[in-house]
Amino acid sequence: MEETLVLIKPDGVKRQICGEILTRYERKGLIIKAMKLLQTPKELAQEHYAEHKDKPFFGELVDFITSGPVLAFVLAGKNAVTSVRTINGATNPVDATPGSIRGDYALTMDSNVVHASDSVDSAAREIHLWFPEYK
Ligand code: PPS
Repeated sequence: MEETLVLIKPDGVKRQICGEILTRYERKGLIIKAMKLLQTPKELAQEHYAEHKDKPFFGELVDFITSGPVLAFVLAGKNAVTSVRTINGATNPVDATPGSIRGDYALTMDSNVVHASDSVDSAAREIHLWFPEYK
């Protein structure tokens, strides 16, 4: 069983599409193992995006993810990391296939509705960061 960390970002929560998004993961067979709605502290956002700290859009990333509540959850299943990334679609919604979350619900990279861990190692780091009480 693989696990991955997913965030429905502030744009997704504000648009009230959490249920629709969760249905897609559950329909695939992924299991929700932990979940919380939270206002992301700035320090957590900076740590979460630490690998991008030298990129020009780092400030925007942190500002956006802290701009409103996010729904954070851990999903489990066989090949969960890759499966969730496929369901989410390409990071840039312009390239995201119709039928994927970003393909159906997003137009721009700075409001792309969801985040998901990009590897098993990132998933372990991010799950520990967002759910220190988990396991
Ligand atoms: S990914 O999904 O991690 O492989 O994508 P990556 O290209 O590495 O991008 C990492 C996160 O940065 C966001 N991003 C941007 N935000 C604003 N402006 C620009 N130009 C930009 N480029 C990338 C992208 O949405 C990723 O956010 P997360 O939350 O990880 O999906």
